[in-house]
Amino acid sequence: MRVMPGTPSRTVVVTGGGTGIGAATAALFAEAGDDVVITGRREDVLSRTAKELGVRYVAFDAADPGSVRGALTELPTAVDVLVTNAGGNTDRQRPPVEAGDLDGVAAAWRANFDANVLTTVLITEALTPRLADGARVVTIGSIAAKQGSGSYGAAKAAVEAWNVDLARKLAGRGISANVVAPGVTLDTEFFQGTVTEEWVAARVSAAFDKRAATPAEIAGTVFFLASAASSHITGQVVHVNGGAYTAR
Ligand SMILES: NC(=O)c1ccc[n+]([C@@H]2O[C@H](COP(=O)([O-])OP(=O)(O)OC[C@H]3O[C@@H](n4cnc5c(N)ncnc54)[C@H](OP(=O)(O)O)[C@@H]3O)[C@@H](O)[C@H]2O)c1
Repeated sequence: MRVMPGTPSRTVVVTGGGTGIGAATAALFAEAGDDVVITGRREDVLSRTAKELGVRYVAFDAADPGSVRGALTELPTAVDVLVTNAGGNTDRQRPPVEAGDLDGVAAAWRANFDANVLTTVLITEALTPRLADGARVVTIGSIAAKQGSGSYGAAKAAVEAWNVDLARKLAGRGISANVVAPGVTLDTEFFQGTVTEEWVAARVSAAFDKRAATPAEIAGTVFFLASAASSHITGQVVHVNGGAYTAR
């Protein structure tokens, strides 16, 4: 991406920017000459990516109110673009819950709620007073909100509902709020080594183009929703999945 002479640089915060879709998004904004801050829990991962991309990082747990509060002194005081991308399917990071284990079910559902809803809601709440007029909030949802995946899909559906209110609330300041909902996206840590080639092949066969997305393709949609070209788009869910789920 070439930076146009005289284009003002924006301040961009990308949560979960150390890996996968978040890192690709941070790379795109950084290439465009924007001032980018990436966040995540693992400092070693963040510092490596930040060095590669020439951006700044702040390490904190976005699902924990105290941790978010503590990070505020290091986060930018004015934000033009907030990309709330941190998340993932925590069921892929825990042993399966035995049938009838209600405590296990509750813990698994709370984990996905924390990882996907609280990581999004808390940082947005904390940074809303710092959003510039005309700013953009872009949240990464998932095709799972429409297609299932248990507590993960339910958590991403909650994010979609939350985004509608956010868009309504911020519209008076010219701020848009949209969700980008990816389908299967490879070259991320999302699957935590839990899927086989056969699983991926079966899953992507639902896409018209018979392939998974790249993180850069998701990042491109985020970049568009953060641009002036998207100024009348707000409160929407934009699907990026090769046709695996079509608008209806
Ligand atoms: N890959 C897919 O197929 C796919 C499909 C649909 C939607 N998505 C969504 O896309 C987003 C990005 O995921 P990805 O695919 O790029 O996977 P990823 O590589 O695992 O990225 C997720 C990032 O979020 C960070 N994160 C997770 N929980 C956090 C927390 N509590 N506080 C702070 N940071 C946290 C992780 O860093 P730390 O572990 O260091 O905190 C990691 O950098 C997620 O919201 C995911 O649900 C992915």
